[in-house]
Amino acid sequence: MLLEALIPRCQLHYCAVDISSQMVDEALNTVADIDMEKTGIVAFLEDLPLLRQFWSQPAVLCLLGNNFCNYEPDYLLKTLHSQLECDDLFLFDCHLFPAPPESVSRKQVEQIYRSPLNVRFNIDPLVRRGLDPDNCAFYLELLPTETSLGRAYRTSKWLHILKDSTLSSGPDKISLAAGDTIGLGFTYKYTDSQVEGYLKHYGFHKIERFLSSDGNNLLLLACKQPA
Ligand SMILES: C[S@@+](CC[C@H](N)C(=O)[O-])C[C@H]1O[C@@H](n2cnc3c(N)ncnc32)[C@H](O)[C@@H]1O
Repeated sequence: MLLEALIPRCQLHYCAVDISSQMVDEALNTVADIDMEKTGIVAFLEDLPLLRQFWSQPAVLCLLGNNFCNYEPDYLLKTLHSQLECDDLFLFDCHLFPAPPESVSRKQVEQIYRSPLNVRFNIDPLVRRGLDPDNCAFYLELLPTETSLGRAYRTSKWLHILKDSTLSSGPDKISLAAGDTIGLGFTYKYTDSQVEGYLKHYGFHKIERFLSSDGNNLLLLACKQPA
């Protein structure tokens, strides 16, 4: 939608970046019908200083799909601030921490993340490589964490292996023993004011914000604070 809106206004070069080559292919397939220059790069966001050479200025750096919340905010915003120029834009979205009371909000988030569909989503890469879903248990907690902008919440997720299992990845075999624990990635849940506070703290200027009608999702367009 964004690309289609931008294409009549400017010449675009689309650059899809992900650590998963499958996701990069998916991104390129999605825009196959759009007439523009395209590049797919398998890389880490942490490679941003190297990735910059693949984009032309000005850039709109997009972190969408609640991706912003998958990184440590201080590291992420510091890195982005050092890599973006003043005429670049930064577009990202966030699923917000639900309105208080706090105990109810936490339960609400945990309920969603512990749903069978989400558990299946989390273990799927291992199941596709041979793990029997009944041989592991999924745990998730939403824990308070003190940040430079006050208390935020972050998921803590792990898998407990219940029975010795062997996974296959290409020619490799991976043995998991009963009792093993596999840590999984996290997601932060911020309040609306924390997200804006972080932007300001790290030298970004908010250009426009869009809040979903239920108040749960925030989309923000920002740029570097002019000097
Ligand atoms: C929350 S999903 C977002 C997916 C996509 N933006 C969407 O909206 O469908 C997170 C994506 O980030 C990728 N990823 C995880 N860690 C990464 C990293 N350090 N650098 C680049 N991509 C990463 C994952 O492979 C996954 O595709």
